[in-house]
Amino acid sequence: MINVIEMVNEWSAKGVEDCMSNQHDEHESSHKPPIRKEMSRRQFLTYTLGGATAFMVGGVTLPMVRFAVDPILQKKGEGAFVKVAEISKITSEPQEFSFELQQQDGWYSSTASLTAWIRKDESGNIYALSPICKHLGCTIGWNTSKDYPDQYLCPCHGAHYTKDGKQLAVASKPLDEYKVMLKDDWVYLGEVVPNTIVK
Ligand code: FES
Repeated sequence: MINVIEMVNEWSAKGVEDCMSNQHDEHESSHKPPIRKEMSRRQFLTYTLGGATAFMVGGVTLPMVRFAVDPILQKKGEGAFVKVAEISKITSEPQEFSFELQQQDGWYSSTASLTAWIRKDESGNIYALSPICKHLGCTIGWNTSKDYPDQYLCPCHGAHYTKDGKQLAVASKPLDEYKVMLKDDWVYLGEVVPNTIVK
């Protein structure tokens, strides 16, 4: 117990000493001119070289990072339309038109050969159906069988569809359609979307 009291007294005395010493230092320093901290030659070189190196590394790596990430961030072909057929050539009877589409999948670029069945309805609205059967993905044809006149027919398992793409057998969904844009007497086709014609 006595030891503890002695230790506390010792700490208190040291605290008072430190405090007085600090006050003394402060008092003395108020009479001294302020000391300017100057950068040494070594520090200057270190900072300068460090900054220059960071600038050069950033200049090299940032374009590489951008090259690596850009294709991933880009949306796949969204909003891209391709010129496919003259509007004057479109009839009420579906016709098959072929066209090519540039595709970008990540870093891989390719050209796809596509077809569409394009027609106009009684009001003059132009529609373009995808030829991909909604059963298992074979390619349909228009009016290819006497058993199914004025219909799309799939040769694989017999799915058939109306002129609007409505499924009549085998398939469970109507044919998809392309987005259509009319511009300067031409039909442009965009991405494939679910059928909006069939009610
Ligand atoms: S893929 Fe068309 S009917 Fe099966």
